[in-house]
Amino acid sequence: MPMTDQIQPIILTGDRTTGPLHLGHYAGSLKNRVGLQHTHRQFLLLADTQALTDNAHDPDKVRRNVIEVALDYLAVGIDPALSTICLQSALPALAELSMLYLNFVTVARLERNPTIKDEIQARGFGRDIPAGFLCYPAAQAADITAFKAQVVPVGEDQAPLIEQTNEIVRRINRQVGRDILPEARALIPAIGRLPGVDGKAKMSKSQGNAIPLSASSDDIRDAVHRMYTDPNHLRVSDPGSIEGNVVFMYLDAFDEDPAGVEDLKARYRHGGLGDMAVKRRLEDVLQALLAPIRERRAALARDPEFVLDIVRQGTLKARATTQETLDDVRRALGLFAFDG
Ligand code: TRP
Repeated sequence: MPMTDQIQPIILTGDRTTGPLHLGHYAGSLKNRVGLQHTHRQFLLLADTQALTDNAHDPDKVRRNVIEVALDYLAVGIDPALSTICLQSALPALAELSMLYLNFVTVARLERNPTIKDEIQARGFGRDIPAGFLCYPAAQAADITAFKAQVVPVGEDQAPLIEQTNEIVRRINRQVGRDILPEARALIPAIGRLPGVDGKAKMSKSQGNAIPLSASSDDIRDAVHRMYTDPNHLRVSDPGSIEGNVVFMYLDAFDEDPAGVEDLKARYRHGGLGDMAVKRRLEDVLQALLAPIRERRAALARDPEFVLDIVRQGTLKARATTQETLDDVRRALGLFAFDG
């Protein structure tokens, strides 16, 4: 254990295990996490319980994707010696904390959460919202606080969930008369959300507009080819528009040479630079980024037991941490403990 362990701030973040992760996850959070694991005590949660809140009809999908998401973590450079990868459903303290936290939030407040509202809309639940789904912000507050996390690296769509977590934290702290739980800060990348290759606001597997981290080089080429640009940029000589142009948004997110990108933008705006030339550059950037990730992922996928063992060990470590917080909260609320 390094000497700095005591003073390293704690990070908790996670992903629902509903499908393999894609470039949007990489730009929005994974890349940050790879860097942060060197300076923080980082826990990554495979959120299979949260995945069940809208996938109760397909638990097999949720189970299968536990290993897929773990593979994605390891393939992008999450190092199990520096970060703890753990499984939500195997941490009973999280479920117990969730039950307690539900008493510190109202149904009306849950219904007002903008992320939940959007997700309810997108899933077409109507009046038939699974109760677990409506209440998952309380469970996510349990995830975050169980690790006493101060920093939560997430995409911008998660900001309302961190805000709601902090509301619950303040209510509990006020109730028990001291700060037993720390508030958490969302760490959101400046780059903003990566759109889908079709130009839709969000990249998602179900929309078929995502580039998964496991994409083959042909997949990458095809995705860049059909990427949305400026529909009014018909001839190479025409001036083109950068705003809403997906190719440039991806270059902004992934090209390591921002000055080169600015130069391309100027030439594109001026006229004389064709979509194909810009797409060729983006394809090179993405091929170079994803090739080593794909190779590492394929090598690890050949040994699922090795990957599961990493998750198992991380989960056992997380069990102790989360149980400690649960005990603190139980004690602070004055609940009887018959076991010691
Ligand atoms: N809600 C996150 C997502 O949609 C997953 C998640 C579960 C999470 N628990 C978390 C994120 C705690 C940050 C912190 O992918």
